[in-house]
Amino acid sequence: MPHQDSAPRQVGSCAMVIFGAGGDLTKRKLVPALYHLAKGGLLSDSFAIVGLARSDRSNEAFRDQLHEGIRQHISEPDQSIVDRILSNTYYIAGDYRDVGIYQKLRQKLTETDSRHATNGNYLFYLATPPSFFGTTVNLLGQSGLLAEEDGRWRRVVVEKPFGRDIDSARSLNLELRKVADERQIYRIDHYLGKETVQNILVFRFSNGIFEPIWNRRYIDHVQITVAESLGVEHRGTYYEEAGALRDMVSNHLFQLMALTAMEPPVSFEAEAVRDEKGKVLDAIQPILPEQVLTRTVRGQYGRGTVGGNKLRAYRSEPKIAADSSAETYVALKLLIDNWRWAGVPFYLRTGKRLVRRATEISIQFKRAPFMMFRDTGVGELDPNRLVLRIQPKEGISLSFGAKVPGPTSKIGQVDMDFSYAEHFGNAPRTGYETLLYDCMKGDATLFQRVDNVETSWQIVAPILDVWKALPTREFPNYASGSWGPADADELMARDGRRWRRPE
Ligand code: BG6
Repeated sequence: MPHQDSAPRQVGSCAMVIFGAGGDLTKRKLVPALYHLAKGGLLSDSFAIVGLARSDRSNEAFRDQLHEGIRQHISEPDQSIVDRILSNTYYIAGDYRDVGIYQKLRQKLTETDSRHATNGNYLFYLATPPSFFGTTVNLLGQSGLLAEEDGRWRRVVVEKPFGRDIDSARSLNLELRKVADERQIYRIDHYLGKETVQNILVFRFSNGIFEPIWNRRYIDHVQITVAESLGVEHRGTYYEEAGALRDMVSNHLFQLMALTAMEPPVSFEAEAVRDEKGKVLDAIQPILPEQVLTRTVRGQYGRGTVGGNKLRAYRSEPKIAADSSAETYVALKLLIDNWRWAGVPFYLRTGKRLVRRATEISIQFKRAPFMMFRDTGVGELDPNRLVLRIQPKEGISLSFGAKVPGPTSKIGQVDMDFSYAEHFGNAPRTGYETLLYDCMKGDATLFQRVDNVETSWQIVAPILDVWKALPTREFPNYASGSWGPADADELMARDGRRWRRPE
């Protein structure tokens, strides 16, 4: 996390070991992010990559694959930087459950230490299927690769999903903690790598004017939307097991909610920020089993047409059961039991195959206390709304009523609008730059701490249980290219509110 006064500096020497290096993430996100860091002068000159995966490939073939990724995802890459990264890249083929592979890895790392001066500092990135997380970390520990001695650091980055419910998350945590200290574990939530997500804290806590009104006295409710236009793509097997609640809500949406609702931390140090996030997650009012059906809505997309293209239903996607009960849409109402937020609902929703891709946090303020314009034909004034647009049109807007010029007192809704692209230009990024940089620096602020993860699973546990016990017969219940199921509108209508339609 950038500190206000610190100009970014090159991180220290290290080797990054990627387990599951043959997958998309390495090619599409990790290596392009390393390129951007190198281009910005932030990556150490003493840096190496060691990729591990099950298929046989030579170093050369692995480098070619990464090179192709760079060409696809970076326009006009600087060849000297590409060469620098690729010439320090190696590949090891093997099974993550095989002890022998960790011996090979050890040797390779000793070589990179002497050849590239990586100094015994290692970042182990687990981009494997989650079923390998425990075993891999365990064997890393047993082979001595996690031992931090003589000032060397060893860190493990774990991709999501971090467990699939509270019990599996707890046992995974216990497994990791047997061989690694919590300090060495970096649980990634890629939403926290997004500039606009990091800006939530900067916006709230570096401006004096918002914090005084950021509470139940002035805020009517908050809506957090993560809408996707894409469907399940090629991830059917994973998604059938996960569903939208596990895939998006217990991690990305809860993180957005925590950043929006947390108290000011005493500093921007990792523990201070994560303590405050933890407190607000702890304060979320538990949803009782009997409230699940009135406080939550699940949906699954059916067929539909978007921009003239016919889209198939979720149940007709590859690797999806013809009678699948996996939800591709979730809406829920949460309350936070603390002094700042008592009685202010937080409505969260996410879905695939919605009208458009749009992630935003909309803070709706209470209406003006006295409608002095009620006799002038403008009885229903829109309330003020502050919208933090996370993606794709990154920015912040504040809407308010203004007099429409003319002899009658007509009031129109206008926006004050800030756009990232207009002010700061469009820096090419994958979203993983800050996360990798912070991890190499040893700054865990933007990573999930064990208690944050477990609390999140605890919040969704009753929902998972009730949904499992009462399978819905209504799927599919929204058309591809719509804004989701009608029940989600009813959830709001019961409270006399409406979902915003992000543009
Ligand atoms: C991932 C989910 O964590 O986030 C995907 O597994 C989802 O299902 C993705 O599509 C959305 O990320 P972004 O950055 O495109 O909003």
